Order: sequence, then C-alpha cells, then structure tokens
Amino acid sequence: MSSNVKREQRQFEQVLSRALERGTSDHYRDAALYDHEYRRRREDLNFYLALAEKEKGPILELGCGSGRLLIPLAKRGHQVVGIDLSASMLARCRQRLATVKTPKPPELRRADFRSLALGRRFPLIICPFNAFQHLYTRRDVERFLDVVRRHLTSDGRFVFDLMNPDLSWLSRDPQKRWARTRFRHPSTGERMIYSTSLVYDGPLQIAFMRIYYESAEKKTRKEKVIHLAHRYFFPLELEALLHYRGFEILRHDGDFEKKPLASESEQQVLICRVLRSRRKK
Ligand SMILES: C[S@@+](CC[C@H](N)C(=O)[O-])C[C@H]1O[C@@H](n2cnc3c(N)ncnc32)[C@H](O)[C@@H]1O
Repeated sequence: MSSNVKREQRQFEQVLSRALERGTSDHYRDAALYDHEYRRRREDLNFYLALAEKEKGPILELGCGSGRLLIPLAKRGHQVVGIDLSASMLARCRQRLATVKTPKPPELRRADFRSLALGRRFPLIICPFNAFQHLYTRRDVERFLDVVRRHLTSDGRFVFDLMNPDLSWLSRDPQKRWARTRFRHPSTGERMIYSTSLVYDGPLQIAFMRIYYESAEKKTRKEKVIHLAHRYFFPLELEALLHYRGFEILRHDGDFEKKPLASESEQQVLICRVLRSRRKK
C-alpha cells in the first residue's frame, strides 16, 4: 500500500471514529428531550415488566439511559443495576429516582458496556431499545457479548431488542427531511420543529441520522443538529454472531407480542441463553 493510500485510510478511520463517537453521545445529551420524545413508547415497557416478573432478578440493564424502563422495574420491587455511558442520561435517571419510591434502590454505574466487569452474575440481563445498535464493528459485538456471558448465571436469560433493517427506509433520499413535527421543548418551553434526514452506508451497515431541531419562534429561526448513528443487523447475521460467541436464541420475534419475525417487522426481539457447552461449571 502506498503511503498516500495509507494516509487516506487513516484519515477515513479518524473521521469515521469521530462520527461514531458523536452518533453515540449527541442524542443523549438532552435527556429531558429524550424522555419527552419517547414518552409514548409503552409496548417495550410492558414486555420487560412481564419478563422481569417471570424470570426474577436481580436484573442488569445495559444502556439504561434516563431510566425509562429501569424506574418502572425498580418501582415494581425488582433489584436493578443500570449501566450507561452517558453522564446526562444517568443524571436524569438519578434525578427521577429521587422523586419515586423504590423498595430496592437501583444501582447506577457510568461505564462502557463493551468492557464492563462487575464481578457478579445476574439471572436476567436486558439491553433494550436499540442500545445494541451502538455496537458498530464485529469487535464491538464480540466484546459486548463476552461481557454479557461473564455476567449471566448459567441458565440466565439475555434479552434485547433492536430495529429490523427496512431497506426502503434506509435507502430514502438523503437530501430530504422526514417526520416533520411541531412540539414544545420540555425544559425551555420553546416552540420547535423536529425533522430528520438519513444517510445509510451499505458496506458498514450504519445509518447516520441527523435530527434537526428548528426554532419555530419567529424572532430566532435558529437550528440545532443532533447526530445519531445506528448499526443495522440482519436476522441471520445476528444469529451467527450470537452463535459464534456462545449464545443460543430461544425466541427471535418481530415485536413485543411474540409476532413471528417477518420482512415487514419493525423490530427484532430476542431471548437468548448461553450455549450449554459454553457455560461455566
Ligand atoms: C436508545 S437509549 C436506550 C435507553 C433506555 N434503555 C431506554 O429504553 O430508554 C440507548 C442507551 O445506550 C447507551 N449506550 C450507547 N453505547 C453505550 C456503551 N458503549 N456503553 C454503555 N451505554 C451505552 C446510551 O448512552 C443510551 O442511553
């Protein structure tokens, strides 16, 4: 490889690494806004609550964010340990926890779920709402699954959900803005217009989203752009990654109500356990 090609390759890797770092953190900086945007998302909450009742805890939530699921789980009396990389999401979670009663107060830790080492095991590990899609490379996935294996009891369950790749959505015109919606910012009260655009990199299987927050106040008209990057996993690719890292899939559904996974499914919901041959004696 000539030195010019090597330099270009290095530059590309640096740009990509910055884009991925931004695509993992930007969207979670304004945690109050995050909570506002997802306040109507309930199907996954009911699913994880029912799961926790069935499997019993303690529960380890990887990517617990602002506690959208962790807090209701804790209010129901489940012992939960929540891990997240985002200081602002964890701060919001702590703030919300201070206003509710939890029979067993949750433990929150700021950590990267690709390199976690708590030194204890859980019968239930969850990684809800596309947090898995912040694992961009094969190495990221391997490290993450090794963390899960090291923290799961021998017959424990690892449960997670992510988006099912929708090729027509991913190949939308990257120049256009979608999902234009008016709303009021939950903290400032400012009237705003939300819209998104998306560039999908096929070989990397990463969607680079831009979320535009435009002020609808006549005087300002300023605009803020937030970046969000999601790696997409095709169902058989996911099955192979899990298998070769020591997991078997017990269910791989297309929604939170056990609908079979189909081409048109929006989600993939997986219940896994460690392969018998990979369990610690
Ligand atoms: C879509 S949010 C889900 C939050 C919460 N589970 C929910 O359902 O609302 C994804 C979360 O994963 C966290 N995250 C992303 N990459 C991470 C990493 N490497 N280690 C720990 N947390 C990570 C983000 O900070 C964010 O809070």
